[in-house]
Amino acid sequence: MCGIVGILGSQPVAPLMLDALRRLEYRGYDSAGIATLEDGELMRQRAPGKLNNLQGVLASRPLAGTTGIGHTRWATHGAPTENNAHPHAAKGVAVVHNGIIENFRELREELEQAGCDFETETDTEVIVQMISCELADGKSPVDAVKATLKRLDGAFALGIIFSGEQDLMIGARRGSPLAVGHGEAEMFLGSDAVALAPFTNKVTFLDEGDWVVLTRKSVHIFDENGAPVKRPVRFTKATAYMADKGNHRHFMAKEIAEQPEVIGHTLGEYIDMGEKRVKLPDLPFNFAGLSRLTITACGTAYYAGLAAKYWFEQVARLPVDIDIASEFRYREAPLAEGGLSVVISQSGETADTLAALRYCAEQGQHTLGIVNVQDSSIARDCDAIMPTYAGPEIGVASTKAFTCQLTVLACLALAAARDRNTITAERERELVSALLKVPRQIADMLRHEDDLKRIAKKLTDATDVLFLGRGINYPIALEGALKLKEISYIHAEGYAAGELKHGPIALIDKDVRVIVIAPHDALYEKTVSNMEEVAARGAKIVLLTDEINGNGNGSGTFEQFRVPKANAFVNPILYAVPVQLLAYHAAVFMGTDIDQPRNLAKSVTVE
Ligand code: AGP
Repeated sequence: MCGIVGILGSQPVAPLMLDALRRLEYRGYDSAGIATLEDGELMRQRAPGKLNNLQGVLASRPLAGTTGIGHTRWATHGAPTENNAHPHAAKGVAVVHNGIIENFRELREELEQAGCDFETETDTEVIVQMISCELADGKSPVDAVKATLKRLDGAFALGIIFSGEQDLMIGARRGSPLAVGHGEAEMFLGSDAVALAPFTNKVTFLDEGDWVVLTRKSVHIFDENGAPVKRPVRFTKATAYMADKGNHRHFMAKEIAEQPEVIGHTLGEYIDMGEKRVKLPDLPFNFAGLSRLTITACGTAYYAGLAAKYWFEQVARLPVDIDIASEFRYREAPLAEGGLSVVISQSGETADTLAALRYCAEQGQHTLGIVNVQDSSIARDCDAIMPTYAGPEIGVASTKAFTCQLTVLACLALAAARDRNTITAERERELVSALLKVPRQIADMLRHEDDLKRIAKKLTDATDVLFLGRGINYPIALEGALKLKEISYIHAEGYAAGELKHGPIALIDKDVRVIVIAPHDALYEKTVSNMEEVAARGAKIVLLTDEINGNGNGSGTFEQFRVPKANAFVNPILYAVPVQLLAYHAAVFMGTDIDQPRNLAKSVTVE
């Protein structure tokens, strides 16, 4: 998943594109580059690593020109080196690309046999080499691109400029998002509205298969068959506001600390505070007639959906099928006509989740998106959305978006229960009241962050860390493990506590740390039994629970942390916070790049 930007401007574009690429770093940061036309000649500067490296190169070797394209990369093919950095260029043309060309090996062989010399290991280079060959054959830039697009299999969002063509840029979209920004005698191209926000809020989102020919004063869009099409110009909400860390050391720390506030915002959107009842926006479906609910997502968003499965089944008595989107999109799941599919995504651009959504729509499902970015591809493709109001989440490790996703899903499950008459008004008020207490309870927990910091340090010498939970706390065990491994690089796994004795307990020894999530709910005693099983084998246990006392609860454990006692319904939201903070502080001790961990990106827009 990479970020691309293009400008047909009225002033030097290199500094503007650098700013736009900073807004796109969440899509990847392995390498970056910019190409401009200086007196019609294609010039490039590229650098491996973070955008700051490219900024340094440009400081010493600036690029002039008012026409340009830029790219920040998450490597799919070819190591993250300068040579593999975009833009890629061949005689007469330069290209930036987000996506994967699946038939690039076949095309590369064909082009090499035609005499093309390749410089990189990337799939993208076949695009620029093929366009260059078409130009050499005498085709116009538009026809050269048109002919090339027909040969490509796979996903792409492209930005293309041509030697000697100061007032021409071509974009194309298949499987990866691309938007046109309408300026005043200027035109822009970007992976999303956020990148374009400093330049314009008048944006046209290209549809699947579209390609576009831009000049400073014209936009001509064509569909995949080459027929001219019109797409709406929207006024986006994306702001030029660039999140900053405030007085926090990392965005992740800031976003963890924001959770009381943003969960409160989200509750305010979905709860009638006076009536203490759920109030949802008008949705084009009703839960009463549903026989099953389908949920699909990736990563942390998937774990939010997994927790929601317990809510829907226990409170709304609605069976739930849930799967990770990368599996679901190819599983050919039979879905009941007129059923409801819920997709969950912070970025709204995750390729696997977007593909899974499209499968559900093709199967005649109503589709509901729980997204944090309301101008995103997933948001646009769903029948309806219930936004999370977490605000921009910059840290690659999702935290506040996750607890806001849980908050929305809890409200949705209560609405479903009401539609299905499986909950009394009194019970609804009881559970809504429990939700309304969550922001303050999290704020109380955050005041004891230093306790978690102390415990986190004791994880850093572990060979493995296991997270255990039962019932609705099991998804939080999975999320805790993901948080720890993705930002501290310490190996961690989440398990259903009852599953340990079926094999994983063989891992237990004195170098293993076991984080046990055990609120005093209906499964507490069973979870503590599992905890004793691993304690008996020498594991060092960190117990997260809501009552710590001398009588056997917590005795013999390595460390304990007290989570505010609450209705079991809201425990997944509460227990997400200590596992986030354990991961964060362990990563601080490990000295990793917490906001941009190695190999990751904030939004995975390729499969
Ligand atoms: C979360 O900490 C991870 N960075 C990752 O698993 C993320 O949740 C996943 O890629 C889904 O992203 P989305 O919510 O933007 O779709």
